[in-house]
Amino acid sequence: TKTKVAIIGAGPSGLLLGQLLTKAGIDNVILERKSGEYVLSRIRAGVLEQGTVDLIRESGAGARMDADGLIHTGTDFSFQGEHYHLDLEKYSGGKQVVVYGQTEVTRDLMAERKKAGDVTIYEAANVQLHDIESDNPYVTYEHQDENLRLDCDYVAGCDGFHGVSRKSIPKTELEEYEKVYPFGWLGLMSDTPPVNDELVYCAHERGFALCSMRSATRSRYYLQVPNTDTIEDWSEEKFWEELKRRIPKEMAERLVTGPALEMSIAPLRSYVCETMQYGKLFLLGDSAHIVPPTGAKGLNLAASDVETAYRLFVKIYQEGRTDLIPRYQEVCLARVWKSVRFSWWMTMLLHRFPSSSRFDFRVQQAEFDYFINSEAGKSNIAENYVGLSLEKLE
Ligand code: FAD
Ligand code: DHB
Repeated sequence: TKTKVAIIGAGPSGLLLGQLLTKAGIDNVILERKSGEYVLSRIRAGVLEQGTVDLIRESGAGARMDADGLIHTGTDFSFQGEHYHLDLEKYSGGKQVVVYGQTEVTRDLMAERKKAGDVTIYEAANVQLHDIESDNPYVTYEHQDENLRLDCDYVAGCDGFHGVSRKSIPKTELEEYEKVYPFGWLGLMSDTPPVNDELVYCAHERGFALCSMRSATRSRYYLQVPNTDTIEDWSEEKFWEELKRRIPKEMAERLVTGPALEMSIAPLRSYVCETMQYGKLFLLGDSAHIVPPTGAKGLNLAASDVETAYRLFVKIYQEGRTDLIPRYQEVCLARVWKSVRFSWWMTMLLHRFPSSSRFDFRVQQAEFDYFINSEAGKSNIAENYVGLSLEKLE
């Protein structure tokens, strides 16, 4: 079989790109290694920037997000138990964010794709990319004991950090940057009312904690844990006790605990592959870059790559503008590095590092004190948090 764009991976990047291409009349096939159910069982991001919200709407999958998403005009911080409010709307020139889970975004995009009748091959094993430097690239894979081949014009690598797409670029062509942090985030989801109206990013000498939510009745909490910890080192009781120690006292007193729907540990890493396009292959989302979750940027960066790739494919198929291909990574990387910087900075500001000295802690405290009490500081956090703008292709 032959398609225009072969999309590898049915996470948010792959599904959103597929949906937008379909709307523009550009046919595409998605190959996903796991089952649809498995993809929906992964609990990840929760905060959508305005640009992401607009793009999901443009794809036609925004109805439930518009009905159920929670509009947040501010976000909170705490430092050693003291609670601060940041008015995002005021300090970003009127912008907001929407709290709506990645799982729900994925579910909505899957439903739209099904309605449109487009092909997604779930449980496609051993996906391999071939001849990506040529004018006739193709993808091979195994599905239900058959060896299959998909010819295409372009390949969109939306297969996450551990996917096959980036690995298909010759090592000598890859320009990579990486930073690994000495801790991870232990997340817990529960059907309990969120402890606070806004998200609360808590810096504490015992380690960072985040109070987030999915709805008025579902909470999502995270704890910084050493990257040597495994999930077996934690119980629900231990999680709640530790959370209470790291959040402001009045919040700890009103915190409603309950059974965990899910608990998992995610390592923290910053990674950029500047080679976001090679021949007929484009990398989008986590396949090209990873940010630590502190700035809530991972999913939003994936969406801005999708926007750029989608606008490029429309130019290529409607106007023959293959000359714009080199612009893809220029446009993406300008935004990627700014989000990488912000996510790194938020991580450094709010976490406890095993190597940090008493001096480092005082400087961290002064930095927080400066940012949260200065108009310039508040504008700096707010404009990055709600999302920086994306360059045009031309
Ligand atoms: P993914 O969601 O990773 O999707 C890639 C898809 O490709 C997957 O479905 C995968 O099964 C498939 N795939 C992989 N390899 C192959 C292959 N060889 N062949 C075919 N298919 C393949 N961001 C935040 O903002 N906040 C958070 O709290 C947060 N928590 C996270 C927790 C974890 C454990 C992880 C891994 C990420 C988290 N992120 C978070 C980041 C955010 O979820 C990602 O940025 C987002 O999922 C990126 O979407 P994507 O579609 O590019 O990649
Ligand atoms: C969530 C995750 C984040 O990384 C973040 O910064 C804010 C919210 C969440 O899962 O709700």
